[in-house]
Amino acid sequence: MYKLARELLFSLSPETSHELSIDLIGAGGRLGLNRLLTKAPASLPVKVMGLEFPNPVGLAAGLDKNGDAIDGFAQLGFGFVEIGTVTPRPQPGNPKPRLFRLPQAEAIINRMGFNNLGVDHLLARVRAAKYDGVLGINIGKNFDTPVERAVDDYLACLDKVYAHACYVTVNVSSPNTPGLRSLQFGDSLKQLLEALRSRQESLAAQHGKHVPLAIKIAPDMSDEETAMVAKALLESGMDAVIATNTTLGREGVDGLPHCNEAGGLSGAPVRDKSTHTVKVLAGELGGRLPIIAVGGITEGRHAAEKIAAGASLVQVYSGFIYKGPALIREAVDAIAGLPRS
Ligand SMILES: Cc1cc2nc3c(=O)[nH]c(=O)nc-3n(C[C@H](O)[C@H](O)[C@H](O)COP(=O)(O)O)c2cc1C
Repeated sequence: MYKLARELLFSLSPETSHELSIDLIGAGGRLGLNRLLTKAPASLPVKVMGLEFPNPVGLAAGLDKNGDAIDGFAQLGFGFVEIGTVTPRPQPGNPKPRLFRLPQAEAIINRMGFNNLGVDHLLARVRAAKYDGVLGINIGKNFDTPVERAVDDYLACLDKVYAHACYVTVNVSSPNTPGLRSLQFGDSLKQLLEALRSRQESLAAQHGKHVPLAIKIAPDMSDEETAMVAKALLESGMDAVIATNTTLGREGVDGLPHCNEAGGLSGAPVRDKSTHTVKVLAGELGGRLPIIAVGGITEGRHAAEKIAAGASLVQVYSGFIYKGPALIREAVDAIAGLPRS
């Protein structure tokens, strides 16, 4: 059935089809219809970051940036839903066109630039949702906040979302906000992590609950740089790492229409790079910090590969666009089929 829907959606411009999909998934969620669209995935409970997940396959950030369709996505069978990236103030993002499909490679290039309606709108949507499963809220900085003051934006978002999120993702890896990725390195990273950790502690006291913090990183670092990030995460007491965001590389899409568009590449071409990052992190972290793996899962077995590489949970974005909700069940089944460690 998704094949038919995909044909219709792919006949529209990527961004129109994105908006229509969010509207339809949101409406289906409000009417409780989405459960009828797809067979529910098997139950495969896991406990990660102190949270109980009904299955380890989640929706990655960026698809529901404003939290407009939380119930709808949850009803499709995701074990957790991550919304955002949200910024303190609303912002339009980059000029259109800024989203490109590369179907021959099961890939997407985007330079959306954190288009979103701001954290207050997102929180209104979270309050309106009925979903009581694991909700992650992904936070970022406004385009016009200088990178030296990025910490202020992350803290402003953290203050607001803390009471409403099951976990908070700190996105320092989008390639579409100038300077953002510099926060993954050296003193900038350490200062950001320290500020977040200390605010998390005071918010925990204020709200009487510990909300885990996950840092989302890029696949474009050298192994040494990834290892440095792992060390900084351990030292600062972060709760998880999400690997990875989109890549600036263009391997696997050479010569295809749109391959030279600026932005981050996702889908099948980022798969191996992402899994490699997971492996490097797993080696450094030695089980002391959970890894959430995302990047290029377009078939169930790719999800299992990520878990085998050392991840505890996975997320999907581009694979969901190309394969539809059946991918969730396929991924859960493939993970369930792995030998128990
Ligand atoms: C159109 C688009 C928008 C995205 N927006 C965000 C975002 O706002 N925040 C974020 O952390 N990741 C964002 N991502 C990255 C995805 O969450 C994911 O990390 C990446 O696409 C790799 O996974 P995939 O190959 O399954 O798509 C976006 C990806 C796409 C394709």
